[in-house]
Amino acid sequence: MYPRIIINKEKFRHNLKYLLDICHKNGLSMMAVSKVFCADHNLINIMIEENVDYIADSRIENLVGIASVIPKVLLRLPSIGDAERVVKHSDISLNSEIDTIKELDNRAREFNIVHGVILMIDLGDLREGIFDENEVFDTVKKILKLDNILLKGIGTNLTCYGGIIPTQEILQKLVYYKKALESKFKLKIDIVSGGNSSSLELLLGGKIPDEINNLRLGESIVLGRETAFGNYLDNTYNDVFTFEADIIEIKEKPSLPLGEVGMNAFGKVPKFTDKGIILRVIIAVGKQDVDYKELIPYDTVSLIGSSSDHIIVDISDSHNIYEIGDTMLFRLTYSSILSLMTSKYITRYYE
Ligand SMILES: Cc1ncc(COP(=O)(O)O)c(C=O)c1O
Repeated sequence: MYPRIIINKEKFRHNLKYLLDICHKNGLSMMAVSKVFCADHNLINIMIEENVDYIADSRIENLVGIASVIPKVLLRLPSIGDAERVVKHSDISLNSEIDTIKELDNRAREFNIVHGVILMIDLGDLREGIFDENEVFDTVKKILKLDNILLKGIGTNLTCYGGIIPTQEILQKLVYYKKALESKFKLKIDIVSGGNSSSLELLLGGKIPDEINNLRLGESIVLGRETAFGNYLDNTYNDVFTFEADIIEIKEKPSLPLGEVGMNAFGKVPKFTDKGIILRVIIAVGKQDVDYKELIPYDTVSLIGSSSDHIIVDISDSHNIYEIGDTMLFRLTYSSILSLMTSKYITRYYE
């Protein structure tokens, strides 16, 4: 059934094992992040078979369905109203708000469990995390008073909102917090989580500070690339996921629409370049499933536009002859994997 996302399980396993091995050889644990593929069960099973240190996802809904002894980590800061589900379905969550942590403590007490917390510190990327130094110490002081919360560690997230590249200097600030908190409160900070796939460049260059003992990796597993500079990693696959859609119309038509141009289906006024008559196909997938700009064709064709349920492709430069019912194959980006895996209209095919 088309459209379908094709998932190569052995390539996924290879990337996962390769990165797990790199982390372990360097003394780091790895949180294997499943959110880009919506915690697909076949891939989660591979994570379990390969015995990753943690399974991490930003959506509690994705963690609910995972049954394993491997600790589950909620990556997105919990909503306070979700505290019950969070303590029930994750072992550890990333947090920055003491009110939410107190609510997690209340809920954990009801279930007679201890919930782990990684306190997020914002080192400049300006998404989640405590920015103010005093607030870090104050929050830890308050956390330590909670019986059903265990401060498992501290962490930071970079190269997400602000695009800030992890450097030794930036990660040294996290090391500073680890040491300062341990000495002030006479405790041991177990996990020092130094970021996501954007920290791999530092790790591979042997430049990550020794005290950083954990990374949370998503994109590098599914696309075989680090995300500070977008470099592909040696010995990994970038085509774990590919996409195939079928052709529902092939016609020669002008490249410029005829008549006065008003708004398109999405309320925007479209712009076109006149290339004369072109050979156009429509593939049966649309904006509702994916942004066409995030599909990378294997063939020498160009994707020129889309509406909710259609993507229009100029195949004038293709060397292939297409017929109705033929399919077109694409490589994917992080964002297209995310949206295609989220769309209920896309079949998943495993090879
Ligand atoms: C807090 C946090 N850590 C780690 C990750 C994984 O990031 P990446 O896919 O760049 O490895 C994400 C995003 O999925 C995240 O939100």
